[in-house]
Amino acid sequence: MNILVTGGCGFIGSNLVRLLRRERPEWKVVNLDALTYAGNLENLIDLEADRGHVFVRGDICDREFVGKVMREHAIDAVMHLAAESHVDRSILGPEVFVQTNVLGTQRLLEASRQQGVKRFLMVSTDEVYGSLGPTGAFTETSPLQPSSPYSASKTSSDLLALAWHHTFGLDVVVTRCSNNYGRYQFPEKLIPLMVVNALHDKPLPVYGDGANVRDWLHVEDHCRALLLALEKGRAGEVYNIGGGAERKNIEIVKAILALVGKPESLIRYVKDRPGHDRRYAIDPSKIKAELGWTPAHTFEQGLAETVRWYVDNQDWWKRVMSGAYRDYFDTQYRARLQAEG
Ligand code: NAD
Ligand code: DAU
Repeated sequence: MNILVTGGCGFIGSNLVRLLRRERPEWKVVNLDALTYAGNLENLIDLEADRGHVFVRGDICDREFVGKVMREHAIDAVMHLAAESHVDRSILGPEVFVQTNVLGTQRLLEASRQQGVKRFLMVSTDEVYGSLGPTGAFTETSPLQPSSPYSASKTSSDLLALAWHHTFGLDVVVTRCSNNYGRYQFPEKLIPLMVVNALHDKPLPVYGDGANVRDWLHVEDHCRALLLALEKGRAGEVYNIGGGAERKNIEIVKAILALVGKPESLIRYVKDRPGHDRRYAIDPSKIKAELGWTPAHTFEQGLAETVRWYVDNQDWWKRVMSGAYRDYFDTQYRARLQAEG
């Protein structure tokens, strides 16, 4: 089986590629990634000599290129993760979110249809549902009410994928997950940003009153759910994935400070994010009942391990935050692949 993973050099994508190579070693994983600021080949340095993982640099918006990759590698299934993923950036500059998340997804769906791909897994987000009040949880039939340019673009791509199923008969499964945490997350998102700032004794910016709630999911639990959805999900269905770990942002920030031994005086309450969703919570009963998925990590243990990883891997985050290194690494990596190939 030949799998195309898009966005395989990002946070979730790199964890997924690693899991696929471990759990399905007979599969070839073709990793198509544009290497934006968020994509780093170093996230997969341990697979450097693994010939079952093929990295291809390119843009999902490039119709011809995507078609060529699918033909050349005889792709059987697509796991689509490539996206602009950060809400704050979507507020500052929405256009690239429409370009990559909407147009890029459409190009990929169309190429998959033309290539005769047997399954297309669309990795969507719980942000398509908008915000919850103090009680309740999102189910797969909750209304779609995205708030930010990011979540609106993801809702569009999610619905395009379902449209390609209903209209053109493409075999599509959609997953909608909550906030992921774990190793290799770019230090712009809450958890790694707070660790990095705390280690530098820099202020920790908490938006609004810090009482916004997210439902945290360990990235490895998410990736196992994606593999299950790919192999066992029903065509045309949506599956919510959530870790069952609702926490207020301020609780997480305080927990991180305690883990790295820094004072709470570093906390700074700052101006709120415009349109900030108040609370997310996922009801994962469908994926649990139908596909037998269950998260293996508890949040407290997973957070402690994640914080420890960032403390122990300061070289990683210092390098990925530097574009010059990324260009250098890319050249070296490609040269090595060509030498082998
Ligand atoms: P990320 O920002 O860490 O990685 C995105 C990857 O996509 C990067 O490697 C980047 O280089 C690549 N990419 C961006 N534009 C591209 C383009 N035009 N062509 C090819 N590659 C491109 O994102 P992430 O946090 O790993 O999220 C992965 C997916 O999961 C996204 O679709 C995101 O919407 C979704 N998701 C993420 C979370 C989360 O908590 N991180 C939760 C729910 C859903
Ligand atoms: O819910 C799934 C979504 O989770 C994914 O679809 C997105 O790709 C992913 O980025 C994430 O979105 P969030 O906006 O929830 O993640 P972020 O880490 O940016 O913020 C988490 C919470 O922390 C949110 O309530 C905003 C708050 N926050 C964030 C940052 C970066 C702060 O208070 N201060 C900060 O500096």
